Amino acid sequence: MRPIRGRELIEIAMVSSAKIASVVGARPQFVKLAPVAQALDELGVIEHVVVHTGQHYDANMSETFFDELELPAPDQNLEVGSGTHADQTGKMLTGLEAFFDAERPDVVVSYGDTNSTLAATLAATKLHVPVAHIESGLRSFNREMPEEINRLVADHCSDRLYAPTPTSLQNLGNEGLSNRAILTGDVMFDAVLRNISIARAKSSVIDELRVSHGQFGLVTVHRPVNTGPGDLENLLGALETVVGSGLRLIFPVHPRTKAVINELQYRPPKGLSLIDPLPYLDNILMIEAAAVVITDSGGVQKEAAFLSTPCITLRQETEWTETIELGINQLANNDGAALALAVADLMAGDDVFDQEMKYKLESHYGTGNASAVIARDLIEWLQ
Ligand code: UD1
Repeated sequence: MRPIRGRELIEIAMVSSAKIASVVGARPQFVKLAPVAQALDELGVIEHVVVHTGQHYDANMSETFFDELELPAPDQNLEVGSGTHADQTGKMLTGLEAFFDAERPDVVVSYGDTNSTLAATLAATKLHVPVAHIESGLRSFNREMPEEINRLVADHCSDRLYAPTPTSLQNLGNEGLSNRAILTGDVMFDAVLRNISIARAKSSVIDELRVSHGQFGLVTVHRPVNTGPGDLENLLGALETVVGSGLRLIFPVHPRTKAVINELQYRPPKGLSLIDPLPYLDNILMIEAAAVVITDSGGVQKEAAFLSTPCITLRQETEWTETIELGINQLANNDGAALALAVADLMAGDDVFDQEMKYKLESHYGTGNASAVIARDLIEWLQ
């Protein structure tokens, strides 16, 4: 980060009493918060409080992330836990309203597209507290996804919109939101660039799982569209076909997916390893080491691109359309033969991740300084 001088110092001093409240709750939000919290900390003049809604509560879905990403413990955990969308979001609204009332932040920062993002936006907006939305402008154009509804509400009710990619900025423009939006780059890119060397030095996951570089596929599945019992059964069948073609698959299982797997009393074949969710550093190292990533997660799709691993996305559409255009991600359904063929093609094809791809990725996701751009903009905007 470049040093701050002169007029900037005076401007920053003017907002030295400003208070920012970040709201997080689900696993990917802890990852997004980490570089932003660090960038705010580096500016050193702002009070930054963090509230955890408790949407994710298992230690390996939450606490581990705070530890590994060296995040300070949240100032408050609302412990809302699981429930229907209304139940979970309703509890968050009540808790957040009380938190904002007590803390009186100058701005609330929300992240991504989860129910915690939705609740943060609504609770703050109704108290007339300005909201800044990080990872704004993403669209799948599929309103059956709960995340799409959360994104639409968050973007239209927030006052400052931080778009990670030119496509997301364009989406905001198409909805008449350009005057509140700025292009920042992607904070998840910042997080990967900062943490991959730490992961390489610290993580022993490759040895523990006895996998070899480029000799396995990494699978993650948690979207409602794939975790209905019938859908998941088909998908597991498709994964078995891939395993049958000779590629070992490592599948860290999200709690939502685990519940359905238990319900189905599913026993995986040899070569399909179902394991607990991985901590962040292990996960990014596994993504980097994999021959292919097979996922329905938005974040994991991008992390695969950032770490030069081809990805197959188990969905009918993606918000991260650039990865498809660049030819490093492709969409697939749960057809076993098609999935096995796509994997075989990738393994046999040329490696497309050359220097040119690095420049192309940077032109979409920034150069790893999105969090610094956001921290500075927040300060200027608070004036
Ligand atoms: C949420 C987000 C999704 C994000 C994902 C990352 C919404 C609508 N969805 O989905 O956008 O990609 O987080 O993981 O906000 N559970 C546990 N322990 C936990 C957390 C969840 O057992 O720590 C179980 C519960 O049974 C819960 C289910 O997983 O009902 C789903 O959790 P929930 O937070 O509702 O949504 P996710 O599927 O994690």
